[in-house]
Amino acid sequence: MRVAVTGATGTIGRALVAELHARGDEVTVLSRDAERAREILGGAIEAAPWGDPKAEPAPAEALAGRDGVVHLLGEPLAQRWSDAAKREIRDSRVLGTANLVRGLAAAEPRPGVLVSQSGEGIYPRGREPADESADPVRGEFLADVVAAWEGEAMKAAELGVRVVTPRTGVVLSPRGGALGTMLPFFKAGVGGPVAGGDQYVPWVHLDDVVGALLFCLDRNDARGAVNVTAPNPATNRELSKALGRVLGRPAVLPVPALALRLVYGEMAQMVITGANVVPRRLTELGYRFRRPELEPALRAATGRGG
Ligand SMILES: NC(=O)c1ccc[n+]([C@@H]2O[C@H](COP(=O)([O-])OP(=O)(O)OC[C@H]3O[C@@H](n4cnc5c(N)ncnc54)[C@H](OP(=O)(O)O)[C@@H]3O)[C@@H](O)[C@H]2O)c1
Repeated sequence: MRVAVTGATGTIGRALVAELHARGDEVTVLSRDAERAREILGGAIEAAPWGDPKAEPAPAEALAGRDGVVHLLGEPLAQRWSDAAKREIRDSRVLGTANLVRGLAAAEPRPGVLVSQSGEGIYPRGREPADESADPVRGEFLADVVAAWEGEAMKAAELGVRVVTPRTGVVLSPRGGALGTMLPFFKAGVGGPVAGGDQYVPWVHLDDVVGALLFCLDRNDARGAVNVTAPNPATNRELSKALGRVLGRPAVLPVPALALRLVYGEMAQMVITGANVVPRRLTELGYRFRRPELEPALRAATGRGG
C-alpha cells in the first residue's frame, strides 16, 4: 500500500511510520520541515514539504497515487491554554484539515481513504459510558474544536473518499504524552490520584493506536467516528494504583484539582472530569486489541516488561 502521513514526526506518527515500513508499505510524509522529518524518520523516507498547513493546501503531488492518507498533525494539547495556544490548537486542526482536503481535491488519482485523527474530547465528561452514538458536547472549547476538525475531514467524503475519524483517548506511550507528565512525580514517590480519582481515564496503549489506525486504513467497512480507547476503561485512582505497582512506588499522595488548575489552567478540566469512552465500533468490526489490560499496558509503556 502507498500511504501519505501528516504529523509523522510526532509520538503517534513515528510509531505508525515504523509499522507501515515493517509491513512493507511505501510511506510519504508531509511535514512543515521535510529535512527534519528525514532526520527523525530515517534518510530513506520520502518527505514532502507542507510549509504552513494553516495557510496553504497540502501538496497534491505528495497525495496523488497514494492509496490512503493518515492525518495526524496538530498543535500539542498538553500545554497551558493561553488565548494564543487555543488559537493554534484550533487552527492547526481545523484549517490544517480543510487544507488537506483541498490538496486531496487536486490529487489525481485520488487516495481512496482518509484516516483523520480526532479525539475523545468531543464526549460528555462524567461516568456515563459514551460510545460513538453519544451526543457530542457543544459550547466547550475542546469539544467544539474536535467537532469542527471532524467536520472538515468529512468533507473529503464528497470527493468519494472513505473517511474515518478515530476518536483517540489518552495515549500511554514510552515517550511523551500523559505518562511523560506523570512519571517524574510517581518515580519521586509523590504521585497519586488526581482530583478525587473517581473520574474515568479513557486510556489506550500506543500499540493499539497504531493497530487501530492501520485497521481503519485497511478495512473498507470502517467509516465515520471510531473510538480508539482500551476495552477496559479505568478510573484515575485505578490508573494511579496500577502505575504505583508497576514502578514499585506507592501512589498515595492525592493531587488536588486546584493544583492542576494552577499548572494547566483550563486544560486541567479534561483530567479533572474524565470520560468513560467505550470502543464499540472497533469491537463490532472485530479489531483485536494488542494491549487491552491496564497493568500490562503500563508495564510495556514504562519499559518494565509486558
Ligand atoms: N498523544 C495523545 O495522547 C493523543 C490523544 C488523542 C488524540 N491525539 C491527537 O493525535 C494527533 C497526533 O498526536 P501526537 O501525540 O503524535 O502529536 P505530537 O507528538 O504533538 O505531533 C504532532 C505533529 O504535528 C505537527 N505539528 C505540531 N504542531 C503543529 C502546528 N502548530 N501546526 C501544524 N503542525 C503541527 C508536527 O509535525 P511536523 O513538525 O513534522 O510538521 C508534530 O510532529 C494530534 O492531533 C493529537 O491531538 C493525541
